[in-house]
Amino acid sequence: MIRLRDVQKSFGAAENAAPVLSVRSLVVARGERVALMGESGSGKTTILNLVGGLLTPDAGSVEVAGSDLATLSEAARDRFRARHVGYLFQTFHLLDGWTARENVELGASFTGRRAEAGRAEALLREVGLGERLGHWPRQLSVGQQARVALARALINKPEVLLADEPTGALDHANGATVLRTILDSARVAGSTVLCATHDPEVAAAFDRVVRVEDLR
Ligand SMILES: Nc1ncnc2c1ncn2[C@@H]1O[C@H](COP(=O)(O)OP(=O)(O)O)[C@@H](O)[C@H]1O
Ligand SMILES: [Mg+2]
Repeated sequence: MIRLRDVQKSFGAAENAAPVLSVRSLVVARGERVALMGESGSGKTTILNLVGGLLTPDAGSVEVAGSDLATLSEAARDRFRARHVGYLFQTFHLLDGWTARENVELGASFTGRRAEAGRAEALLREVGLGERLGHWPRQLSVGQQARVALARALINKPEVLLADEPTGALDHANGATVLRTILDSARVAGSTVLCATHDPEVAAAFDRVVRVEDLR
């Protein structure tokens, strides 16, 4: 589960820091799949980065999968993220010199634990890429790259999956496939999902829609 309470975040030096984000309360139940909507610049990415522990709030608490992130050291937060959080970035961030399978396995290498043997292949099969294990990212369509990135995000069976406008770079058909794969995979894994999107049609597929401006 995810719980933000009285969170404030601004960027820049104290004297000219403009408040960027203010969240009174955001609670996502375990296994719930929530779409986070809001105008460009409203703070969707900032919220995901706070939940993933990539940013720390100026005030307030961020609790993810039973841990209050503020109480963790930076190293402990990195370990926590690797083990409990899957992150699907809008631009996928696949490594060029690594095959689809290696890109997915890479997601397991930061946990200090070994991925289950065969898990990368199984995940790539699950997202419809069983025939593309040895392909380089450049040999894959954008929609296929998105699905490799999703498989990588799921390799550690994360309790929480964060997705930042995952369909933003995709055409309608590929976007629909990726969206369905996110929702189905999360249900199978029991993962909690928080997905930023500005597309109402995408948001409507989730269990619940939350608007950033309503969180203040
Ligand atoms: N690293 C940063 N430094 C300064 N300002 C930032 C930084 N990251 C985000 N912002 C600002 O915070 C606001 C929210 O950004 P963001 O969370 O990316 O919104 P969204 O994802 O909804 O488009 C924007 O005004 C943006 O310019
Ligand atoms: Mg954003």
